[in-house]
Amino acid sequence: MPQLDAQGRHTVAFTLNGRETAVEVETRTLLTDALRHGLGATGTHVGCEHGVCGACTVSIEGVPARACLTLAVGVEGCAVRTVEGLAPEPGRLGVLQVAFRRRHALQCGFCTAGILMSLDAYLALRPNPSRREITEVIGGHLCRCTGYAPIIEAALEAAAELRGDIPAPSSPEAAHA
Ligand code: FES
Ligand code: FES
Repeated sequence: MPQLDAQGRHTVAFTLNGRETAVEVETRTLLTDALRHGLGATGTHVGCEHGVCGACTVSIEGVPARACLTLAVGVEGCAVRTVEGLAPEPGRLGVLQVAFRRRHALQCGFCTAGILMSLDAYLALRPNPSRREITEVIGGHLCRCTGYAPIIEAALEAAAELRGDIPAPSSPEAAHA
């Protein structure tokens, strides 16, 4: 990466949920702020702002990352995926999201976007995870509402559905993301 003027503003171009986008930021701007305030992608939540809670997790080049610890200028040229990218189309939910709703795996929803993004990235690599693996994946996220049991059940159920081991539920929002 070229050396950037610390006082200046910079245009960062990257792919957000499959669409080319660009946003003007300061060198110090965090990816959370660029997404939420610069691009209006408020699905990415901000909790602790120092890498602990996992609420801000997004996927960068297929790898989960804490957006609150990532400088926006660092995603130049990258493929960034946020929770908005899970829905196959406006008004429909992705498989993981439907499973979370069915299994009551969220209450306030503050942690949910980050957890979904970690699970989405993991299931892309490991479509047949064990319960222990899922437990480890969500171990990097703090949820103060549900307890973690429904989240684990939802993740395992979504994985089975994505593999085709169980049929998709018939709800109108059910979708294959
Ligand atoms: S807001 Fe980024 S880890 Fe908590
Ligand atoms: S659903 Fe409220 S913090 Fe997780």
